[in-house]
Amino acid sequence: MGKTENEKRLAAEASVEFIKEGMVVGLGTGSTAEFMIRRLGEKVTEGLVLTGVPSSERTASLARELGIPLTSLDSVDKLDIYIDGADEIDADFNMIKGGGGALLREKILAYNSKFNVIIVDSSKKVKSLGKFRLPVEVIPLAHKKIIDELKGLGLDPILRKVDEAEYRTDENNYIVDLDMSTHKNAQELNATLLAIPGVVETGLFINYVNVLIVGNAGVVDVMKVDRG
Ligand code: 5RP
Repeated sequence: MGKTENEKRLAAEASVEFIKEGMVVGLGTGSTAEFMIRRLGEKVTEGLVLTGVPSSERTASLARELGIPLTSLDSVDKLDIYIDGADEIDADFNMIKGGGGALLREKILAYNSKFNVIIVDSSKKVKSLGKFRLPVEVIPLAHKKIIDELKGLGLDPILRKVDEAEYRTDENNYIVDLDMSTHKNAQELNATLLAIPGVVETGLFINYVNVLIVGNAGVVDVMKVDRG
């Protein structure tokens, strides 16, 4: 296993220690979240009782394969804990997410969770957000108009494609990936994007983190975040 993979695994396995008997656990999406879900599967096999709420179809099928019982968000009051990866996280614990295309369900779960744990390898920590393109989920009907507007805002929008075809999210929407590197105020940019009709959600996660776990050269740093 390479250095990055090992850091992901270390962070993911440390996060599982936050899960207690009987909890409703939001399950993130991506390669780091996958390490966490696999460890959780082992814990369930060993007898830990919990219920998972998946943030994507991909995560749901992995969880089912591992024997993790699942339910829907609507069947529970709040998630006790939500654990997920990130594409970038800055010094104020603001994040870019959605590289794996699941940003909408991920943000809904994070918003409806009592406690959010983010697990990353050390490459994800950045001084300021924006080297990674910001994913934005849009309604297909409006995507051309939205792309024109985003071009006008200097965000260099690229419609996400897989093998020449438009990428479709679990909600059957499109994703546009933006260059936000010259936009330093994430909160302002988020509000600007959400004000465009047809923009469903952005991959900017502002003020969501309770605990950040970073895998770093063979050890883990666990940071508790004061969210004021
Ligand atoms: C998926 C996400 C992931 O958390 C993000 O892309 C990080 O992925 P990985 O753990 O594979 O690096 O937001 O929509």
